[in-house]
This record gives sequence, C-alpha cells and structure tokens, in this order.
Amino acid sequence: MKNYLMKAFTGLALAATAWSQACQTNTLRTSVPTDGTKVALASYSYCGGTFEASTYIANVNYNKVVTLYYTNRQDESTPLSSLTFGYSSSIGDGSWELWTTSTPVYIDGITELLNLTYRATDIGQTYVQQLGLPVDATGAPEPTLPSPPAPYATPSGFSDDITSWLSVHPAGSEADIAFQRMFLNINPAVEGAVDGVVVAARSGPDYDDKDPDYEYTWVRDTSLTMDVVADLYAAATVKKAKSQYEDVLFEYAAARATEQNDPGLQTGLGEPKFYLNNTIFREPWGRPQNDGPATSAITLMEFANSFLADRGSIDTIKRKVYDSATYPSTAPVMKDLLFVASNWTSSSFDLWEEEESDHFYTRMVQRRALVMGAAFATKMGDPSTSATLSSAADALTDTLSQFWDPNRAILLYEYGPVLKGKSSYLDIAVVLGVIHGYADDDVYGYTNDEVLSSALRISTSFIDVYPIADTKSNSEGQALGIPVGRYPEDVYTGTGTEENGGNPWYLCTAAMAQFMYSASTAYDSAGSITVTDVSKPFFDYFAPAAALQVGQTYSSSSKKYDQAISSLNGWGDAFMRTVKYYTPANGHLAEEYDRDTGVPQGAVDLTWSYASVLTAAFARAEARGEKNYAKHLANLGFEANS
Ligand SMILES: *[C@@H]1O[C@H](CO)[C@@H](O)[C@H](O)[C@H]1NC(C)=O
Ligand SMILES: *[C@@H]1O[C@H](CO)[C@@H](O)[C@H](O)[C@H]1NC(C)=O
Ligand SMILES: *[C@@H]1O[C@H](CO)[C@@H](O)[C@H](O)[C@H]1NC(C)=O
Repeated sequence: MKNYLMKAFTGLALAATAWSQACQTNTLRTSVPTDGTKVALASYSYCGGTFEASTYIANVNYNKVVTLYYTNRQDESTPLSSLTFGYSSSIGDGSWELWTTSTPVYIDGITELLNLTYRATDIGQTYVQQLGLPVDATGAPEPTLPSPPAPYATPSGFSDDITSWLSVHPAGSEADIAFQRMFLNINPAVEGAVDGVVVAARSGPDYDDKDPDYEYTWVRDTSLTMDVVADLYAAATVKKAKSQYEDVLFEYAAARATEQNDPGLQTGLGEPKFYLNNTIFREPWGRPQNDGPATSAITLMEFANSFLADRGSIDTIKRKVYDSATYPSTAPVMKDLLFVASNWTSSSFDLWEEEESDHFYTRMVQRRALVMGAAFATKMGDPSTSATLSSAADALTDTLSQFWDPNRAILLYEYGPVLKGKSSYLDIAVVLGVIHGYADDDVYGYTNDEVLSSALRISTSFIDVYPIADTKSNSEGQALGIPVGRYPEDVYTGTGTEENGGNPWYLCTAAMAQFMYSASTAYDSAGSITVTDVSKPFFDYFAPAAALQVGQTYSSSSKKYDQAISSLNGWGDAFMRTVKYYTPANGHLAEEYDRDTGVPQGAVDLTWSYASVLTAAFARAEARGEKNYAKHLANLGFEANS
C-alpha cells in the first residue's frame, strides 16, 4: 500500500514536471496599435528563470528608453525590479519598431507586470502602458546562483619578473615607459591643445588614423591621470622635478576652472568631454557624468594637501585651487564640491558613458570628494562649506547599502533597471569605485566582505567569456591572472560594436592587481583577517592554501594569515603578469587586448592604461614596504640636474 502510494505520487510529480517543462508565451497582440498609443506590449513569457518579452514602439524620435516595471517574488517594486528593452527590428515603413528583452531574473523572480514606460528623450515625451498582468513561472525550474569556480592556480608571494617589469631603473622597464608615455599625453603636442589638458589617447598608426577618435580631454580620464601627477609631486625630492609637477597641477586647476565657466555647458559641471583647446564638446553624448567633478576635486585636494604640507602658501591654494566664490576663473574645487553636495542624488551616465542610472562608482567617488572636502574646507577656514559637504556625505553614505544584492552576493554596479545584454549584474566599475572612491574610513574599503565578494564574482566571470583565459601560465610556467574587461556582456571592440566583441582592458586587469595589493596592505594595517560567510568564497578562490574558516579571526602572527597575504600578493602579481603578457615589446599600451589573440585593440596609447599601471605599481610597492619606489619614479630623468 505504502509502495503503491509512493508510485502514484512519483507519477504525479513526473506528470507535473513534464507539464511545467513547456514554456508558455502570452501573446497580447500581433500587429501595431492603430489607436494612437505609442507603446504596446506584444508578448511575454517567464520560462526557466528568464523573462522574455517584445513590444511595439512608435518611432517618434531617435533616442528611446523603454523600461518595464514589475513586482518580484518578495512582492517588492524597487528601481531594481525593472528591466530595459533593446531595439530589435524596424517594422514596415519604419514608423514602428519591435523592442525586446531576454533577462534572467530568476534570483528575484517576477510575479506581476506593472507598467511599460517609453521615454522619447529627444522630444521629452513619456508614454506609458499600464499592465497589471500576472506572470506565471513556466518551463524548467528556475536555476540557482552558480557557485564561483574552483581556482585554476595558486600563486603565492611577489615574483621577480614583475619586480623587474615595474622597476624604475634601468630605463626601458614598463614603469619607465608608462611614465614617459603618460607625460606625452599631458599638455600634448597637438595643434590647438592648451595647458592643463590630457589627451585621452592617440589614434591609429602615427596618430593620423582617428578610429576611434579619443583626441579630447575627458574630465574623468584627465583627473585620474593628474592624480598620478599629484602622487609624483608628493614623492619627488629633486627640486626641478617637484616644481615641474607643481606647474602641471596648477595648470590643470586653471583648465578645470575654465571648463566650469564654459558658456556652452549643457548639463552643468557633469559635462564629460572637452576639445583639446578646452572648449565644450557640443555634439550628442552621454551627459551628464557626475563622477567628473568629484574625481577632479579629489585630485586637486590631494595636490593641495601635499603643497601645504610642504609649507606652500594657503593663499596660493585659495586663489588657484579652492576658493571658487572669490576666484571663479582660477579656483575650481569649491564649486565642484558644492555641485557634488547638491547633485549627488541625480542619476547620470556611468564611467563607461553607456547608462543613465545611480552608479556605485559615481557614488563612491562623490562620497570620497565630500568626505575629503569637508576636512579640506575646514583647513581653508570655510566652516559653512565644510558643514554642507559633511552633511551631504552622511546622507550619501546612508544610500550605499542599497547596492548590496545578497541574492547575487555582489555590490550592484548600478541601482536601476537590468539592462538588455547586461544581465550578469557584474561590472569591474565596482572594483574601480573602491580604488578611486575609498575614503580611508572603513566604508566600503579593501577588507569589506561585500567588496571582496564582488571582486571575486566580477573577476572570475571573465574566465568563460574570453578564449585567451585558457592560457593560464607564461612560458616559465608562472600563473597568469584572469584577463579582465569591463563586464562580461560587453560588445565594444575598441572601434565599434560586435556580438561577443568585447575585449579585456589593460586598465581593468591592472585594477584587479591593484585591488589585491591594496587588500594586502589594508590587512597589514588591520593586523588580522576576519572571515565572514560573505567573504569566505573570496578567500577560497584567491587564498585556498590558507583554508580560512567563517567566523575566525587570524592575527598577523599566525601562519594562516601569512599564507593568505602571500596568496593575495601572488594574485596581484598574476594579474599584473597578464598585463605584461599582452603588452607588446615596445611597452605601449592600447585600451584593450583581443579576447581571442591578445593583440592590442582600440585606442592607441590610452593615457588611463598608463596611469593604471603606475597606480598598481605604487600599490605593489606599498604592499612590499618599498618606501622609495614613488620617489625614484618621481625623480626619474631629473637626478642628473639635482
Ligand atoms: C510604473 O511603475 C513604477 C513601479 O511601481 C512606478 O514607480 C511608476 O510611477 C509607474 N509609472 C507610471 C507612469 O505609472
Ligand atoms: C576648439 O576646437 C574645436 C575643435 O577643433 C573647434 O571646433 C572650436 O572652434 C575651437 N574653439 C576655439 C574657441 O578655438
Ligand atoms: C546642480 O545641478 C543643477 C543642474 O545641472 C545646477 O543647476 C545646479 O547649479 C547644481 N548645483 C550646484 C551647487 O552646482
């Protein structure tokens, strides 16, 4: 009897499984609307954890954003329970288009479609279709979040090949080449270029071929490059070197003030891009990008702090760096900081210039600018600005926890809709946000377990994406770190877009190296490693030999601590070795290296690539306790005249 019942139940379960294996598509309409509406859902299905839908969109203007809002399994409706559609095809005479989405939403589930919102951004119109449609899961059972892979290598400790590649002397090392070529792009010898600008990259053979055309000064790229100059300024001991860096940085401050006052700004201080004569780029672009005012202020405050520590005059700093209220045409920092304080809640385009949303990267650099700015304004004798910045910093900090997605074990790169073709939710921008935005105050720093988990998930996501990830060691058998790009679904080839066309980037791979070195330094300062269930997978992958356990704290006197730190350093060098492996013999760095062949791709001599190798080298020197590394680099080429 018992057996019989069991069988009957099994039979029922099988029948139910067979039934639910079939995908069900709900078709609402099969032709374009004729009643004057501009948006109409055509069909949808939720099958095997993936939501698919198509919609008719009236072609009323060029730039369109189509967003579907829904309710998730927890009955929540937030900016995260929404997804965007992408263009699929033109219909008939082109007055209608079909837009589609195919998004794995299984982690959160989807239970009801709320509305479909179509923004025609060029003409400032929004059209909405209210839906209120139930969604049933059909097809195969929803999958669960895959575990991170098992590690393919166990590098440990610093290696001589990387030490010599990044050594300052002799001439011809990569550090030397990166240093020289970065400076060729600062105040570049290009007709029309003015002082204080940085050309983002050069293009084509001998720079005649402008494909892609990066001959502009981008606010972000320029500030990140000038941040390296500020580091060199702080480290230099040869007088001539120091005064040269100082000149460049004051020119940069003046150039930034000029940008702020350009009458052609379309979106305020978040304008991302200027010509090399430092006038506004007026063509259509992803604007605003509100990270720029923040990173610019950070760089200039770092410089000013070093200048003042070196007994520079506070009046000079007020006049040429800080006090925009009194010196609007020369001093940009106060204005950029107040812009951040009053505008950080606005969404803007991300560092890749692709998506308008609330971005983790942007929030992190804005936070650092506000935290640093509050202290800096006090130093400038400006308590009221300090108070404004400090209260904005507190309010911003309160929003950061919204980026943590416990179901996916990552910090989301943005708090907004899931984008068509970017449904892994992963982006190296999160790691870059920590590198550029950590304010040294234990808020989302290098030892934060959510940050560690994100770094693991993001970096390992590229293993199955790039064929060159199959090359796991160099000819000496030393481990190559994972080639890292912007995000797994990237289609940008460096000159255009192509399916499966995205490549690993030098600066993204160097960022993972820098992250590992800085994590090692941060644990060194903390004197111990504490492991949580959130950070454990990170250590399992990057430091398996130490076999760290959840809930344990390993002090710096323990063997397991040493093993773990050596592993972080070893992975730092492994990521750097990948950068080295795909750097051509002349040491020049493009933007990307080909996902299939490793050959350099895209813009030539990308300034940010050079800056990223140098900042990773600084972080490595710090992890190794090489106090004079930055000094030697800063004095490079000036020693003879000292
Ligand atoms: C669509 O739904 C979202 C989420 O509930 C809501 O915030 C938004 O206001 C709705 N839009 C319209 C026009 O109803
Ligand atoms: C700056 O350069 C751009 C691009 O070459 C040019 O169109 C513009 O007229 C220049 N503006 C000034 C003020 O020289
Ligand atoms: C914030 O942004 C708006 C819109 O760009 C601008 O009008 C306003 O002046 C900005 N606030 C500050 C303090 O710059």
